[in-house]
Amino acid sequence: MTNTTISLVTGANRGMGLEIVKELATAGQTVLLGSRDLNKGQEAAQKLAAEGLAVEAIQLDITDTDAITRAVDFVSNKYGRLDVLINNAGASFDKFQDPSILKLDVIRREFELNVFGTIDMTQQFIPLLKKSPNAKIINISSMMGSLTEALNPQSSVYNASSMGYQATKSALNMFTVQLAKEFQRKDIPITVNAIDPGLVATEFGGTSADSALEYGAQPVEVGVARTVELVTSPDNDITATFSNTHGEVNW
Ligand SMILES: NC(=O)c1ccc[n+]([C@@H]2O[C@H](COP(=O)([O-])OP(=O)(O)OC[C@H]3O[C@@H](n4cnc5c(N)ncnc54)[C@H](OP(=O)(O)O)[C@@H]3O)[C@@H](O)[C@H]2O)c1
Repeated sequence: MTNTTISLVTGANRGMGLEIVKELATAGQTVLLGSRDLNKGQEAAQKLAAEGLAVEAIQLDITDTDAITRAVDFVSNKYGRLDVLINNAGASFDKFQDPSILKLDVIRREFELNVFGTIDMTQQFIPLLKKSPNAKIINISSMMGSLTEALNPQSSVYNASSMGYQATKSALNMFTVQLAKEFQRKDIPITVNAIDPGLVATEFGGTSADSALEYGAQPVEVGVARTVELVTSPDNDITATFSNTHGEVNW
């Protein structure tokens, strides 16, 4: 059994997930690159493996409970444990439509992916995380999920209205807090934290990374910095926080 940290990142064939995989593998971790399309995942993983990094693609559609079970079996058989789970896969489908007309099926799709898929992933992997002496769960959230900032006229997200997506990140934040508290109460050495990456230049929302950079989004390296800092820290004493590169942010 390997002594290096074993990490799994969902939605990692592109965007921030791919950058997180690259940076964790560069830091010496063995990283499983989750991708709902195995071909895309393998293509991304092979490029990193060609640079000598310990990266392996794993098929993982987080809205497919059987796919998650197969991934758990694979990791269990090959590594016997998981040290870090990064729930990064996520999307917004609601195109900034007003909450008075936003279709329920759009909101349901967002909850299936950003909330129920993420909770299913986490619950199914908890037995393997419990086999690690010191495990970490990171949920990639968003400032858009902060109720405090939605009501703060000084906030960068005050004028944004993407209610379905925002509600999923608020729900993910509550899952983060309650799971962290459960582990603390039961003395289980798994920390759970939510991250606000900021506005980041990826293909999120159907834009191109280049056009996102033009309207002021930050490069992916900046967007993943807080996640990489928490995951690579030798300490594991921070839990139930919501933070970005500047420190803790309002729930
Ligand atoms: N970009 C931002 O400004 C920003 C800001 C705050 C928070 N976030 C959050 O950051 C995370 C990463 O976003 P990103 O900007 O890197 O977006 P992205 O480039 O659009 O990447 C999203 C990733 O999620 C994957 N995905 C979608 N549905 C999936 C499913 N059912 N199962 C597994 N994977 C699935 C996508 O796979 P495919 O390639 O197959 O579609 C892709 O790999 C998301 O949770 C997002 O909400 C982003």
